[in-house]
Amino acid sequence: MDKIKVAVVGTGGIANHHMGVYSKIEDIQVVAVCDIIKEKAVQFAERWGVPKKNAFSSYNKMLETVDEIQTVSVCTFNQAHRRPTVAALEAGKHVLCEKPMAATLADATAMVRAAKKSNKILHIAIHSRYQPHVVMARKIMDAGILGDVYYCESVGCRRRGIPGGTFIQKKTAGFGAVVDIGVYNMHDTLFTLNYPKPVTVSAFTCDYLAKNIPGLESMDVEEFGAAWVRFEDGSIMVFKISWAVHANSLGHSYFLGKKAGMTFSEIYADSVPEELEKLVKSEGCTLKVDKVDNMVNMRIEGMKPVDVWDKQVREFIKAVRSGGPSPIDPEKVLITNVIMDGIARSAKSRKEVSVKVPEI
Ligand SMILES: NC(=O)c1ccc[n+]([C@@H]2O[C@H](COP(=O)([O-])OP(=O)(O)OC[C@H]3O[C@@H](n4cnc5c(N)ncnc54)[C@H](O)[C@@H]3O)[C@@H](O)[C@H]2O)c1
Repeated sequence: MDKIKVAVVGTGGIANHHMGVYSKIEDIQVVAVCDIIKEKAVQFAERWGVPKKNAFSSYNKMLETVDEIQTVSVCTFNQAHRRPTVAALEAGKHVLCEKPMAATLADATAMVRAAKKSNKILHIAIHSRYQPHVVMARKIMDAGILGDVYYCESVGCRRRGIPGGTFIQKKTAGFGAVVDIGVYNMHDTLFTLNYPKPVTVSAFTCDYLAKNIPGLESMDVEEFGAAWVRFEDGSIMVFKISWAVHANSLGHSYFLGKKAGMTFSEIYADSVPEELEKLVKSEGCTLKVDKVDNMVNMRIEGMKPVDVWDKQVREFIKAVRSGGPSPIDPEKVLITNVIMDGIARSAKSRKEVSVKVPEI
């Protein structure tokens, strides 16, 4: 089988991780790399055994010169996701772009439109979606075990974990905690719910703690964000995320349905749902049931661990070989950008704002 020929744009921290995964997959060959800092691209090429002549400082030049490129890993900072992604798609290449899809809703929309127009795959690297408990939660939801979900919380928390570099400035990252780590929780929740459409957002963001932490003087993005999101069907998602907070935890993600409720590790109901027993059996797992008064707490045991990075790249390459679709539909990932845009507008105006998923 011919190897898939890959290029990498942006040779910073995460690009090395992409290379580590690519280097372990037999049918992938990285043939070109690019960074606006030429020196970085050259050193990266040397480190990973890519021909030095194929180290570029312009992705347009790279796309023009190295004809054999089939897919592009976009590993630039958030504000620089759109241009290389659109250029690669327009050049007829498939794209695996780092999360979040983009720093702005306009950028994300342009990327999804370019993918549709080119008929090429755009996959956003939200690897958390492949975690076994997230995959299982979606199966539980699809089997109707929870019934209609009327309320959920999507929660992540670092007590102290503000990154540095390009992550803490609007001009490179666009946002702080809300998109950096928040995108994983938010997408896991939206994926589990099968992507309901948001209609309003009321949000709060702040950077109070960062102001007193030496070394973060240039930070102009949020360290904490919380939002109340209303979906088209009237249901609610509360979203909470932090890079820094005076708390051990902000709680955990959970879903409340009319028939049952669940976290990403337990299911709660009045009795054991037959559909759940069937699902758990068909997945080769076991259901541990604890009786609490007249109710039951249930835990699924025996889910096989997954290397989510390896899985993500293999699914992407499989889609490239089979002609698609993208393993995670970019039109669905766009909803995270719609909500994040609502969070930014609402936090700034201190009012609830309307949001709308753009037509593609
Ligand atoms: N999936 C994960 O686990 C994970 C982890 C960390 C970062 N990320 C994401 O990866 C992206 C990059 O993060 P990072 O830590 O590698 O950042 P980084 O700042 O270390 O690297 C970004 C690189 O992109 C280059 N660059 C910027 N604009 C460019 C352009 N127009 N053309 C070519 N190169 C350009 C920069 O010079 C820099 O070398 C971010 O979107 C971030 O959210 C994902």
